[in-house]
Amino acid sequence: MNDRVEAPGRVLVLGASGRLGGAIAASLLRRLRGHVATPSREELALDLAAPSEAVARWIAQWRPDTVVNCIAIGDVDRCEIEPALAHQVNAELPAAISRACARAGARLIHFSTDFVFDGALRRPYREDDVARPLSEYGRSKLAGERAIADTGCAHWVFRVSWLYGAQHRNLAADLLAPANAGRIFSLATDRVGVPNPVQLVAAEVAGCVARDRTSVERPPSGLYHLSCHGATTWHAFGLAFVREAIRAGRLAPDRAPGIEGIVEASLGRPARRPEWSALDPSHYERVFGRRLPDWEDAIAMALSPADARP
Ligand SMILES: NC(=O)c1ccc[n+]([C@@H]2O[C@H](COP(=O)([O-])OP(=O)(O)OC[C@H]3O[C@@H](n4cnc5c(N)ncnc54)[C@H](OP(=O)(O)O)[C@@H]3O)[C@@H](O)[C@H]2O)c1
Repeated sequence: MNDRVEAPGRVLVLGASGRLGGAIAASLLRRLRGHVATPSREELALDLAAPSEAVARWIAQWRPDTVVNCIAIGDVDRCEIEPALAHQVNAELPAAISRACARAGARLIHFSTDFVFDGALRRPYREDDVARPLSEYGRSKLAGERAIADTGCAHWVFRVSWLYGAQHRNLAADLLAPANAGRIFSLATDRVGVPNPVQLVAAEVAGCVARDRTSVERPPSGLYHLSCHGATTWHAFGLAFVREAIRAGRLAPDRAPGIEGIVEASLGRPARRPEWSALDPSHYERVFGRRLPDWEDAIAMALSPADARP
């Protein structure tokens, strides 16, 4: 397996308009300005029927030594309704990217999900625990992971979970939005996992990329759980987030939204979700020499001003 990547070259961020891709692009631009390409969806012009051609064009155009793939269909219910699309974007595209990276000698950084697990274990999942997805989303993401591993390109696949803290399309942004002052949010009490600020994941990934360019010792290719420690429900997270936002001066106490508990399983959503899907980051911490915080201590990262973020 080729784990050597020549440095310094360019980092190509795919999906930079998304929650995680946007945060990673911002974090990389702060560290490696001039060496980061963040093409828009229009510039990428991805034809899902011919992903290999598109990817070959991207590699020729931006000549990256690192590709960070944040393109995904992450809407779990949409994947259930449109499984062919889910498979194209979440499995076939990463397979094509990893083949192109192998040919170009570039490292691929890709993201997967806690939804590859069925939740039966009821303790934080490790990388060597058996994946048994309950949904088309989970199946398509697992197929993407496996395709990358099979290709043999230099890669780090980071499984992440319950992302929040981006500008839009996530619970934290909704809780902070002035338009939602005093609104009651109904959040699940029957699902346990780990909420992670995109700022934290982005800072970790940008640090991995930066160190990859300067150090001789590189963590081996493989699958890593990149997550805060602990486990909670969406309901308990919502309460903790609002409490911390008030303390940080981001919400006025009399305008803060209310949080009530609901049993999500009773909602009859198209896709099944694991009831218990916390990820154990110990392997990532050991191999990358990092220490990740408890989920509750990480909330402050999503509330700090953008220019104070690592
Ligand atoms: N969000 C979570 O809680 C969560 C949890 C576990 C794992 N993950 C994983 O983390 C990664 C990032 O997720 P995210 O939440 O940041 O996703 P996201 O916000 O939905 O962003 C997805 C990105 O993919 C792009 N995209 C989708 N289809 C495309 C196409 N056909 N052509 C070009 N671009 C396309 C989107 O572009 P547009 O903006 O133009 O649509 C967007 O930039 C994914 O691998 C996901 O599976 C996320």
